Amino acid sequence: MASGNNGQSTFSSVTRRSYQVVIAATRDMGLGIDMKLPWDLPREHTFFMDVTTRTSDPKKRNATIMGRKSWEATPLEIRPLPGRLNIVLTKSSCLDIAIYENVMVCSSMESALELLATEPYSLSIEKVFVIGGGELLRNYMNAPSCDAIHLTEIDISVPCDAFAPRVDTSQYCPWYSSFPIVENGIRYCFNTYVRRKNHICLETKQYSFLPKMVFERHEEFSYLNLVQNIISSGDMNDNTTLSKFGCQMRFNLRKTFPLLTTKKVFWLGVVNEILQLISGSTNLKEKETNHIWDSDEAKEYFSSQEFSQLSDVINKIKNNPHDQRIILSPCNPLNFNLSVYPCQPFAQFYVANGELSCQIYQSSTEASLQIPFTIAAYSLLTCIIAHVCDLIAGDFIHVIGQAHINKSHVNAIQKQLQISPKPFPILKINREKKKKIDNFEASDFELLGII
Ligand SMILES: NC(=O)c1ccc[n+]([C@@H]2O[C@H](COP(=O)([O-])OP(=O)(O)OC[C@H]3O[C@@H](n4cnc5c(N)ncnc54)[C@H](OP(=O)(O)O)[C@@H]3O)[C@@H](O)[C@H]2O)c1
Repeated sequence: MASGNNGQSTFSSVTRRSYQVVIAATRDMGLGIDMKLPWDLPREHTFFMDVTTRTSDPKKRNATIMGRKSWEATPLEIRPLPGRLNIVLTKSSCLDIAIYENVMVCSSMESALELLATEPYSLSIEKVFVIGGGELLRNYMNAPSCDAIHLTEIDISVPCDAFAPRVDTSQYCPWYSSFPIVENGIRYCFNTYVRRKNHICLETKQYSFLPKMVFERHEEFSYLNLVQNIISSGDMNDNTTLSKFGCQMRFNLRKTFPLLTTKKVFWLGVVNEILQLISGSTNLKEKETNHIWDSDEAKEYFSSQEFSQLSDVINKIKNNPHDQRIILSPCNPLNFNLSVYPCQPFAQFYVANGELSCQIYQSSTEASLQIPFTIAAYSLLTCIIAHVCDLIAGDFIHVIGQAHINKSHVNAIQKQLQISPKPFPILKINREKKKKIDNFEASDFELLGII
């Protein structure tokens, strides 16, 4: 079987459309009870409507495939789902629902996908979404023709009588995970998982089969948009650099790790820098490849202050997590002296809902090499501290006063901007390790799923 980005799969001589699944489920993958949804989440409903309805070609529409019971569970006022071709699967021949406009009945998933691969549907239907319920998903959610799974993870446990299977993470990896949303007292987040590709695809836009509104939510775009912005409208304060003032990027550490994918970031260098920051070591020999923290002031600072500040940060996170000043500061707090102000970020930590978030402030930084490195380094530090404090890593926020690019880097960055992001990797920290901040070594950190 082969599946391409045009949504066509070939099973021996038969051509079938591939599809994406869109569902919302509880912690236990519960979908519904008594033919109803056990929640009332208007924003979730809007997301479902947008993802399944929007097309990039205004002359086309999307198709939604559902089981007969899900059709019957759909409220009458939105049945059939407007603006989409509704395909209902049933084995019964006497179900009389094809009288509705925009509705077709098919006796199997295979026949529906074959029909959609033939004209006129192959030309008029842009994307195919399987929208439930449980019986359909049991067979088709993790199947080879399923290119992506859009799963709203609803953080509740309530009784359900229809269930979806769990996402098979050996087959799928996260593309995007939203920051948690709270609506009507229920916490949830939108997630998209894409099928893992075992080969390196040369196509630069290999994930463009995703709905545009999901594709563009990949967090790497916040970095790419920043550098694009600097290049296209940055201030030219001297002849060599372009700069922007007042920039912010936010990364979600809950499921993935923000090691940028459109350019090479030296992961081992990132790990070693953070281990050195933790140990307070400034051994120059070990810092041959990365020089962002090797100013005299930084060395002086780290050897004298860093470790005790870090211990203080961990102590506060563990024992007084709502302290409003959990801070790792480049200024010597005992002897504030701007003349020895190293180029280190100012980092503040925050604990809520069992999660640790970190915001750093850098007054000035270079955007093409240093920013990707710093994103990875401080995200790693946040994940390590969260691990040591038995918390989940939450958000990493990078605030920059002046972000600048040397004009000689502009061509390389423009080439980088032509590349589409790939899924971020997943960070695994050695769980066997005793949870002490100065107890880690480079081999305790593994990035899974680097493509
Ligand atoms: N949370 C969500 O995102 C979400 C989404 C959808 C639905 N739901 C909920 O899920 C529940 C319904 O799910 P469910 O598991 O009970 O039923 P379902 O999967 O919606 O429908 C099952 C029926 O679909 C037909 N069918 C299933 N697989 C088929 C196949 N391969 N070929 C031909 N026909 C097939 C059969 O109809 P016949 O018996 O007529 O042959 C079967 O009885 C409701 O509570 C609904 O509210 C939730």
